[in-house]
Amino acid sequence: MGDRGLLSRAEALRLEPPTWCHACHALLYAPCSGRLFGRVPLRFALLMQLRFDGRLGFPGGFVDLRDGSLEAGLLRELLEELGPGATGLEVGPEEHAGARPGSSDEPRPGQRLVAHLYVKQLQPEQLRDIEEGAARAPDHGLEVLGLVRVPLHTLWDGSGLPEFLQQRFVGSARDQLLDALHRLNLVPGHELERALSLARRSPN
Ligand code: GTP
Ligand code: MN
Ligand code: MN
Ligand code: MN
Ligand code: MN
Ligand code: MN
Repeated sequence: MGDRGLLSRAEALRLEPPTWCHACHALLYAPCSGRLFGRVPLRFALLMQLRFDGRLGFPGGFVDLRDGSLEAGLLRELLEELGPGATGLEVGPEEHAGARPGSSDEPRPGQRLVAHLYVKQLQPEQLRDIEEGAARAPDHGLEVLGLVRVPLHTLWDGSGLPEFLQQRFVGSARDQLLDALHRLNLVPGHELERALSLARRSPN
């Protein structure tokens, strides 16, 4: 879960086209007072999406020079993928949480990807608005098949986060998720370690 290979926004911007292309995705989360089964505290609601390719990832996408800035491109993608609930979202350079260069996937032959992640805490009502608007997003049913909340709890039988971590993720999305859970302490350290070791058991 180390931050090895994580670049700052400025460092990543030195990686230029045509060799490099940039993608920006957003991890949006909010405090959550709910209890599962009236018992297990949920603590946070954190959004990911099921994609057209059957994998899980964060909302966002490719950003290019026409977007003007990384953040403007991210906002355009969020409006396409999340719909009207994303209208009032403000995501700036302060929310940049690191970029991963040259992960396994090549967007186009010979090209390498820099994957930026932005992390933003929302009010519970803002997150709810995004969920409610998601089915009205231009990309809903096309590139995006649905928003999901990530189970952050681990139940007595090892289900919850450990099972979720055995899903398929796009690019470095799984590492991005784990880094953020760790750095924002959305899951306490010992619980995250336990979830990770349970997740290494044989998949279904
Ligand atoms: P198009 O409009 O079809 O181009 O899709 P998009 O602009 O929404 O791009 P998309 O989000 O599918 O992906 C952009 C690039 O980032 C691709 O190379 C993906 O493999 C990769 N990618 C997609 N989602 C994530 C994510 O959550 N995390 C990371 N690290 N990479 C991702
Ligand atoms: Mn039930
Ligand atoms: Mn998109
Ligand atoms: Mn996308
Ligand atoms: Mn796009
Ligand atoms: Mn598209």
